[in-house]
Amino acid sequence: MYYIGVDLGTSALKLVMMKGNGELVKTVSKEYPLYFPRSGWSEQNPTDWFLAVKEGLKELAASADEKIAGISFGGQMHGLVILDKDDNVLRPAILWNDGRSTEETDYLNNVIGKEKLSELTANIAFAGFTAPKILWVKNNEPEIFAKISKIMLPKDYISYMLSGSFSTDYSDASGMLLLDVKNKKWSKEMIDICSISEDMLPKLYESYEVVGAIKPELAKELGLNDDIKIVAGAGDNAAAAIGTATVGEGACNISLGTSGTVFISSKNFGVDSFNALHSFAHADGNYHLMGCMLSAASCNKWWMEEILKTKDFAKEQSDIDNLGENNVFFLPYLMGERSPHNDPDAAGTFIGMRMDTKREDMTLAIFEGVTFALRDSLEVARSLGIKIDRTMICGGGAKSPLWKRLVANILNVEVEVPVSEEGPGFGAAILAAVGCGEYESVEKAAKSIIKIKEKIKPEADLVVKYEEKYQKFKRIYPALKDVFKEIR
Ligand code: XUL
Repeated sequence: MYYIGVDLGTSALKLVMMKGNGELVKTVSKEYPLYFPRSGWSEQNPTDWFLAVKEGLKELAASADEKIAGISFGGQMHGLVILDKDDNVLRPAILWNDGRSTEETDYLNNVIGKEKLSELTANIAFAGFTAPKILWVKNNEPEIFAKISKIMLPKDYISYMLSGSFSTDYSDASGMLLLDVKNKKWSKEMIDICSISEDMLPKLYESYEVVGAIKPELAKELGLNDDIKIVAGAGDNAAAAIGTATVGEGACNISLGTSGTVFISSKNFGVDSFNALHSFAHADGNYHLMGCMLSAASCNKWWMEEILKTKDFAKEQSDIDNLGENNVFFLPYLMGERSPHNDPDAAGTFIGMRMDTKREDMTLAIFEGVTFALRDSLEVARSLGIKIDRTMICGGGAKSPLWKRLVANILNVEVEVPVSEEGPGFGAAILAAVGCGEYESVEKAAKSIIKIKEKIKPEADLVVKYEEKYQKFKRIYPALKDVFKEIR
């Protein structure tokens, strides 16, 4: 039996086909456009996603020599997908890194109040979350708002199109600011605050539960067997955590994708006192804390492709030999920042250049800046008494030996690299396998399937140097906060 994991990312779709024992059979990747219609806005077309999924599934079907038992998902989180009563997509999806809803976010945090929001949902409002976007559509596109019949998250649109099941899972729903995370049910108060009704929201499931089956006509069109189960799946970070066996109490995973996240799994529900970290449900049935920065590997992509005009990422890194000595700093806030600053006005910034500054110093500053910003979130977790001295790592950035070394030294943790880098897609395939009864639990499946191929230890001298640099980095954003507001 084969299982397929669909990783619906921001830069691309990745499909992973896995055997029941966790052996990878084939991966397929497809790209779709990402639109920035205005500065700080970020959109994609759900129909582009679905077309890519169909093409990818067709390719996998053609090379599957065993029956496919289940399909599940790891999807970019928080995106607002809205359909009318005839299931037409009403507008492009507004994505997780879109900062347009500042007014609505301020309204939620200041008028409804952070305390109330935290009590209702375990979280406060961030511009990227779904509820502020619903309010944005209400305030700015009332004629569209009036036609909303279904509200869903990106991966749930794919699940709906494949199976007809209008459903979501607790991990992804946690990021909508509509879910009572602790009690795993929709918050009636939040539904009222957003002027919507509960029947517009999908039915809630655990990530490993079966929500339906593939539509027979689609199975036929794509060359798939017609008895494939559709399993709820998870937000991409929770799925990546499964794909790196970040389950149980106090395990950590760092994802260096378009976004950068620090993910800490927990058996118990918990919230930090300033809500700097997100408190969400995990795909293993438990909970997690997470810090999310909006631009991680995307900072390097921007620097390489837009500024240096090169595609040879490895070459740019090969001349870097001055770890711990760089006097250039970079603030990685190219799309504003979520964790921990919650500031859509924050902007990317280089500081500290002199006449002798070299191209490599600025490239290194990009990697260091993103890693310092991840440390900002890690420090919040540490301040709660959570001990983190090792982490798993995944995402495109985890392919860079330089970056992994920086993570080990700037965060002062041992970095463990799993055999497969396909974090969310692999995690989603594991969820499909659990949903189809191949394993007793997500935790057991992840622990038996995921193997570590490399461990990177922090180096004492670099840890000291980077500690000093981090203390300087920490002072730059507060010094510029007001300036960012003015230059927006
Ligand atoms: C998490 C978040 C991002 C997206 C990226 O809160 O917004 O990591 O899920 O796909």
